[in-house]
Amino acid sequence: MSHMKIRKAVFPAAGMGTRFLPATKATPKEMLCLVDKPLIQYGVEEAVAAGCTEIIIVTGRGKTTMEDHFDKSAELEASLAAKNKTALLEIARSVSKLAKIVYVRQPEALGLGHAVLMAKEIVGNEPFCVLLPDDIVDASTPCMKQMVEAFNETQSSILGSEVVEGDAISAYGCLDCTPDATNPRLLAVKNMVEKPAPGTQPSQNAIIGRYILTPRIFEMIEGITPGAGGELQLTDAIKALLQHEKVYGFSYEGKRHDAGDKQGFLRATVELALKHDKLGPDFRAWLKDQSF
Ligand code: UTP
Repeated sequence: MSHMKIRKAVFPAAGMGTRFLPATKATPKEMLCLVDKPLIQYGVEEAVAAGCTEIIIVTGRGKTTMEDHFDKSAELEASLAAKNKTALLEIARSVSKLAKIVYVRQPEALGLGHAVLMAKEIVGNEPFCVLLPDDIVDASTPCMKQMVEAFNETQSSILGSEVVEGDAISAYGCLDCTPDATNPRLLAVKNMVEKPAPGTQPSQNAIIGRYILTPRIFEMIEGITPGAGGELQLTDAIKALLQHEKVYGFSYEGKRHDAGDKQGFLRATVELALKHDKLGPDFRAWLKDQSF
């Protein structure tokens, strides 16, 4: 396992997105459009920026628009080319050229751990990253790139982590951890608690939807029993992994938006629209003129 490189990124995208109903009744949550592109494209671009060359999307029923989105659209390209719309043609083409993308089905939404397990054969015996497409991380160095750099030092599993104030930590997986002596962004994980009751949290360090995992995680997922909600929880499998290997938390630089939640999605829309290089200046001017 020494000096393994991260080449593959897994995107669990087979969930039901119930928090975002009715929008997600017939449209996959991962295809909700944030400013001008679907959520999943932000994640795929982040994985590519981190050096991943193979993207594995775990899908389920009703998710085929995701495959169409990343596929070449011959009719659209021919139509834009015929009209000499070269800038738009470039946008359409660039999406299908982002990376090699493969799809694997999760027949039933049996939990995040189960979704990751669906990628076992395609990932094989190498470390890989997992990105939850509804966590959007806005950062000057893409979050997963920061994590891959840390992995290149540790060669151990790394969990993206953020400090969450007060009892808000009760909505997250929480790390029992100590700062690492060598890298101020790394946290040595001793234990993990899923959704701790208020006042019982071992720290304010929450786990977010960015992971680098060693391939032993598959064996751990296969060994756990369904936890909360009858689902195979990835957190339980990572806890089991702790018995065999070092696991680190990683305090990334950047700002995360929970775009799988309506309120989080609205905030992400405004912040990312303001930062958008083409749309931002006009949107900012328009916002200033409003008397809401
Ligand atoms: P979430 O819990 O945020 O997604 O899982 P969800 O279940 O779709 O949404 P809600 O809570 O009902 O609104 C995080 C990610 O894991 C995927 C989801 O698609 C999402 O991207 N997931 C979750 C799976 O792929 N399979 C599952 O069985 C569960």
